[in-house]
Amino acid sequence: MHVFVFLILCAAQCYVRSESHTENIETLMDNVVVLKVHYGVPSRVYVPLTCGEDNQIQPVFWKRNGEELSPRLEGNQVSVLVEEMNGGNYSCHLSSNGQYVNHTVIMVQLEENRTVILEEKSTEDGYIHCSALNYSGPFHCSWTRRRTRANAAVLLIKAHRNSVVIPCELNADGSGVQCQNNNCPTEEEQHRISLTVYLYSHSRLEKYEKTFYLREIVRPGRLPNLHLTEGRAFSWSYPETWQEPCSFFGLQFQVKVVHHGQPCNSEEHIVQNIIQENTYEVGVKTKKYVFCVRAQDKHTGGPWGHWNHCTVNKGIVSC
Ligand SMILES: *[C@@H]1O[C@H](CO)[C@@H](O)[C@H](O)[C@H]1NC(C)=O
Ligand SMILES: *[C@@H]1O[C@H](CO)[C@@H](O)[C@H](O)[C@H]1NC(C)=O
Ligand SMILES: *[C@@H]1O[C@H](CO)[C@@H](O)[C@H](O)[C@H]1NC(C)=O
Ligand SMILES: *[C@@H]1O[C@H](CO)[C@@H](O)[C@H](O)[C@H]1NC(C)=O
Repeated sequence: MHVFVFLILCAAQCYVRSESHTENIETLMDNVVVLKVHYGVPSRVYVPLTCGEDNQIQPVFWKRNGEELSPRLEGNQVSVLVEEMNGGNYSCHLSSNGQYVNHTVIMVQLEENRTVILEEKSTEDGYIHCSALNYSGPFHCSWTRRRTRANAAVLLIKAHRNSVVIPCELNADGSGVQCQNNNCPTEEEQHRISLTVYLYSHSRLEKYEKTFYLREIVRPGRLPNLHLTEGRAFSWSYPETWQEPCSFFGLQFQVKVVHHGQPCNSEEHIVQNIIQENTYEVGVKTKKYVFCVRAQDKHTGGPWGHWNHCTVNKGIVSC
């Protein structure tokens, strides 16, 4: 009796051991399996494939990326050898007439955090840049494929907050998503939004993640109606896309005077200030300068919006 139990145990364990490679294989979505391999370690893994339910399948053969395999691979359940990053799209076809039945795409992902598909946007942003014009729900995230990986495509996008799915739509050129978060704008955010983008180039799959609070990405739009009033003060309005009521969603403004011909982000400013009012009187002697202004949510201290500016050249003001 004891021997019998022992034998069964061993059989179970030995089975697990011989199949241990399957722990590196997971189904990511319908018809896509992912094989995880280690960087720099030679890898040869047999990946099991199934065409369909045993009882309803007729004799089938397999193709890889649309081409018949040699030697011919036949059977409902087969294993294919994947070496290094050489996955592929395996489709099964009826032996009788070659008709397509089903397919499985094998993608290969490195366990290590080494990516080649996307370019880093900036050190703060990482690979994905997200922004929103207000707290009402829509936000946009974008990424840039490296020139050498211009063929890379998006496989899957997942966005959620506290396990509530956030719907996102991929841009036509595959370089970003437009998402719609359905929270109340006035509610204090308790949980971060999490965005995961899976991109692939040939069989190489890469996963990019970004987590953030909406308040960290809300960037006020460019300030409209910027003009010089008769009292020699510059004045502007809140962006039309900014959250109402303004009394609750207050902005503060950075005003800056730079030398004529200089851009607003110039380090060599004549005057720089942070103010709460949407009007500012410039008290400089020079008759030629550029007046710049941009906004930030004053409660969250989130990202600054884009600059708007007026050029002043001896009494000629153009905004
Ligand atoms: C097709 O193959 C996938 C695996 O890639 C499997 O999950 C699915 O059940 C198969 N479809 C049918 C109709 O058998
Ligand atoms: C894989 O091949 C099938 C059948 O030819 C096709 O429908 C599918 O779009 C292919 N998928 C990818 C990711 O290439
Ligand atoms: C991968 O590395 C990048 C920088 O090299 C880092 O920003 C990111 O958090 C890392 N991701 C994981 C999952 O460790
Ligand atoms: C918030 O910004 C979106 C664009 O992302 C805009 O369509 C919407 O009108 C803005 N909401 C308000 C309240 O202005």
